[in-house]
Amino acid sequence: MDQDALKKMAADAAVEYIRDGQIVGLGTGSTIRHVMAKLAERIKGGLRIRGVATSLETAGLARDAGIPLLPDDAEWTIDIALDGADQVDPQLNLIKGGGGALLKEKIVASAASRFVVLVDESKRVPVLGGTFQVPVEVIPFGWRTVMKRVAACGCRVAPRMKDGQLFVTEAGHYIIDLWFPRIDAPGELETELEKTPGVVCTGLFVGRADLVIVGTRQGVVTLERPRLQP
Ligand code: A5P
Repeated sequence: MDQDALKKMAADAAVEYIRDGQIVGLGTGSTIRHVMAKLAERIKGGLRIRGVATSLETAGLARDAGIPLLPDDAEWTIDIALDGADQVDPQLNLIKGGGGALLKEKIVASAASRFVVLVDESKRVPVLGGTFQVPVEVIPFGWRTVMKRVAACGCRVAPRMKDGQLFVTEAGHYIIDLWFPRIDAPGELETELEKTPGVVCTGLFVGRADLVIVGTRQGVVTLERPRLQP
């Protein structure tokens, strides 16, 4: 079974969590494309939901599936948000933003009562970093200066490029990618980076996922965020 089939397995399982009448946050990426296809089937079968899309691509898929979208400037009450991830650690902390939609994804995840993440098994890592970079979204003003400041965290940095130009995010910003051999304190790093003037957000999603649904060769595995003891 290839990686895409495992993504589809996780996506199909995640769609089972959606109930009639809910407002659903719709993430971005190849795993979410499988979600949109499954939702389209369920909508033909009578499911009625409304959505908040985190990218133009997802908004197009939602319209094709027959999901009405809430306006960007509405005050949303999102029941459940579904999204993919690039890495997941054992505490269910994430790196996201491989597709460049991280700011909208973080806003939607934060606004949702339940944030459900869907991945194939290759995304699970013992510790964040190493094989995947941390995307940092910055405003265009002063970006080289901001890049120099974030490099002080002791990582390799590079602006993200596309077709020889600076990559522009869904929200109209730039991305600086940061490579760390390993990230032992992702919460501290997220806070530190997001305090830097010019940084809008990072692809570190620490303590945000309520549930992670993993497509594995042995079937679907569901992981719940460990709760703090009272
Ligand atoms: C988009 O900006 C990302 O956060 C994606 O959710 C993440 O990169 C996972 O993408 P895939 O579902 O394509 O693996």
